[in-house]
Amino acid sequence: MKTNVQQVDCNEPQEDVIAQAAAILQEGGLVAFPTETVYGLGGNGLDAAACKKIYEAKGRPSDNPLILHISHRNELERIVSNVPEAAKKIMDAFWPGPITLIFPKADCVPMETTGGLDTVAVRFPAHKVAQALIRRSGLPIAAPSANSSGKPSPTRASHVEYDLGGKIAMILDGGSCEVGLESTILDVSVKQPILLRPGAITKEMIEKVIGPIAVDAAVLEKPQEGVAPKAPGMKYTHYSPKAEVILVAGNTLEAQTQEICRLVEEQLALGKKVGILATEQTKDAYPKGIVLSVGDRQKLETIGANLFKVLRKFDFLGVNIIFSEVFDTTGEGMAIMNRLNKAAGYHIVKV
Ligand code: TXA
Ligand code: MG
Repeated sequence: MKTNVQQVDCNEPQEDVIAQAAAILQEGGLVAFPTETVYGLGGNGLDAAACKKIYEAKGRPSDNPLILHISHRNELERIVSNVPEAAKKIMDAFWPGPITLIFPKADCVPMETTGGLDTVAVRFPAHKVAQALIRRSGLPIAAPSANSSGKPSPTRASHVEYDLGGKIAMILDGGSCEVGLESTILDVSVKQPILLRPGAITKEMIEKVIGPIAVDAAVLEKPQEGVAPKAPGMKYTHYSPKAEVILVAGNTLEAQTQEICRLVEEQLALGKKVGILATEQTKDAYPKGIVLSVGDRQKLETIGANLFKVLRKFDFLGVNIIFSEVFDTTGEGMAIMNRLNKAAGYHIVKV
């Protein structure tokens, strides 16, 4: 299949381009499109066959459910069977935006969409291209991140093309994604809401609106043998570049950088090509290895925006091993450490 890559204006999406993409979705095909978090791989969320195509294109296990994307709150009624009070407050505060909610599903949502669960994940993205596409297609669009399963999520159209070119009908190229990390996922289908995946809408921001919430154990720790994380996707290896990733933690930033320098020397002596995931504050502290700055420690949103791009760049550069600094888990730091832990398979060295 030839993949048609179309530039699209993020402020005023061209109607003809959106109409072409919407027609593909209505006919059961797949279109990748930009959102404020990451690029999504869209298909008709009420069509079991389209959802199957999504799993195939990504190489994704079919028990890992998809998120349905809507372009107005009144589209919720059709796909969920109950809207809890906590959900209403979260929607008032953060929709449209980078937070997904888990609801009990309505009958029209096929089990292929929800990976066999009786709940459904719903998100109302803030991105104008995503909104225009959903509105024009008249469908709830099922859209996982538009990467090959296990790879870092795509934050640019070129990432999507690299992973899925030739496998899908169309890619809408709207430039780079502002947030760069996938949406926060909050399960509101249970009595005490649980954070299943941290994102740019932080635990602290949610708690200001609905009070204390629980955090699923899989968010920051390796899921224990035999204990299933509540978001099925959290059990898979994720965000992994080809190289091995090792996180290096220390009491101070200086201790971290010194230990990384020592580890880099060790690997260079073995003839390895070594990458260092550094920050604006530390990038000059590493005399050897391939150093990429992921952003500014004082502005965690810059790190969120660049993380997946930098992991993909290390792959492109062909490094064998990556040493990464770590971050506090407050605010957006929780989402950053969740993704880094998964990229590293929870391999962390503490000094
Ligand atoms: O930002 C995002 O959420 C992006 C953009 C495209 O909107 N989408 C995205 O989808 O990240 P995906 O499929 O890569 O991640 C969805 C996660 C998976 O970990 C999945 O297991 C979880 O959501 N999930 C989906 N439905 C669920 C449900 N009913 N219960 C629990 N977890 C669910
Ligand atoms: Mg994903």
